[in-house]
Amino acid sequence: EEAAVARPFRQRLLVVANRLPVSAIRRGEDSWSLEVSAGGLVSALLGVKEFEARWIGWAGVNVPDRIGQKALTKALAEKRCIPVFLDEEIVHQYYNGYCNNILWPLFHYLGLPQEDRLATTRSFQSQFAAYKKANQMFADVVNAHYEEGDVVWCHDYHLMYLPECLKKYNTKMKVGWFLHTPFPSSEIHRTLPSRSELLRSVLAADLVGFHTYDYARHFVSACTRILGLEGTPEGVEDQGRLTRVAAFPIGIDSARFIRALELRQVQEHIKELKERFAGRKVMLGVDRLDMIKGIPQKLLAFEKFLEENPYWRGKVVLLQIAVPTRTDVPEYQKLTSQVHEIVGRINGRFGTLTAVPIHHLDRSLDFHALCALYAVTDVALVTSLRDGMNLVSYEFVACQDAKKGVLILSEFAGAAQSLGAGAILVNPWNIIEVAASIGQALNMPAEEREKRHCHNFHHVIMHTAQEWAETFVSELNDTVVEAQLRSSE
Ligand code: G6P
Repeated sequence: EEAAVARPFRQRLLVVANRLPVSAIRRGEDSWSLEVSAGGLVSALLGVKEFEARWIGWAGVNVPDRIGQKALTKALAEKRCIPVFLDEEIVHQYYNGYCNNILWPLFHYLGLPQEDRLATTRSFQSQFAAYKKANQMFADVVNAHYEEGDVVWCHDYHLMYLPECLKKYNTKMKVGWFLHTPFPSSEIHRTLPSRSELLRSVLAADLVGFHTYDYARHFVSACTRILGLEGTPEGVEDQGRLTRVAAFPIGIDSARFIRALELRQVQEHIKELKERFAGRKVMLGVDRLDMIKGIPQKLLAFEKFLEENPYWRGKVVLLQIAVPTRTDVPEYQKLTSQVHEIVGRINGRFGTLTAVPIHHLDRSLDFHALCALYAVTDVALVTSLRDGMNLVSYEFVACQDAKKGVLILSEFAGAAQSLGAGAILVNPWNIIEVAASIGQALNMPAEEREKRHCHNFHHVIMHTAQEWAETFVSELNDTVVEAQLRSSE
């Protein structure tokens, strides 16, 4: 009875994600420093307060020794984080291999790696075995910290095997799973050799969530077509047991950005940037250096724009922040050189002795510098080839209430469904269209900019990460209660 009426914010929540919101850097045998991790999942989860939440995940480093593990566990405990220690071999096979070389590209419509389509099924199989082993290791840590009544919220493509592991341990555990990437068309998912096993495991959860209705629909189709199960408006049914499937579009902690803009150090930063780029329009890209972000295509579109619009040469600058990520995966290394080559060529072509059209940074900025940059930007370019949601577009909008700049947004980002009305939507593969949209954005009359901005700003402040988490958790509680009622009927 009490569990049924307990409000989610009183509840203990175990958030399980591959990456903890903080990453650890070793300073000595038993000393560690922690810094905020990159990526959309982390920026959203940082906005989740109010819950009695504990985070379970990997701290991003290999810690082979007991002393180091003990010290790190202690340092993380202060941040309410609990580490899962993964050794180098597991990280290689599970994280670099199965997660980031197989699932990540597949879910973003980039297909399976060629070599796995050919004869090397051994490598595929060993990576999948490592994936399952890693998921079991996460499950063991969850089990060790689980208390009756806890909600266990599993996140992302790294942990698709986790719901099954958890339910095997305890069928009563309330388990939710949320995917931060797109879920692709069932025709794409069915190419994956382990397609059925993963779907079945996810279905062991009580509630399965996606950013958009389309992703949820693709998932249900995959379950009906590949597993032969029944899809209902509520989710997927298997022999009388329902797994609820629904869309929960994520948001950001918009107030944190708006507050930051008031700070003196951010104001000073804004002033410096304005002086630095006086007389030029500022365009901005902020991405992890990942092939799904469409950075080369974006640069080519900017080049096309400069080529066709001599008037704008020297009057516009593109600042591209490209945060290095997954640097052990060869595809990411190739992308880095490709991007550097294109930037070099464009700067060589259109630069002068005193100014270049593109400033490219291979690193992240701290939060305050990022807010300042968002605030001085005239046009943001978010041109992902595919993206689960893309919270950079939300962060930009949150920081633009004074300037009312323009957002150019890929129609293949989940955010296109929420910010589409205010943004200029583009097909990022169509370089000519993106180049034209840059012109449209730079020339947009103030009145139209204001109208578009207000539309998006309203959305961003009304749909926060906090609300997203509360909705998911309360839906999970309700789902479990309904299932209990159904089974006692
Ligand atoms: C995306 C994924 C997250 C991931 C983040 C950063 O946003 O959905 O799960 O944490 O990228 O990638 P990384 O591999 O560095 O954790």
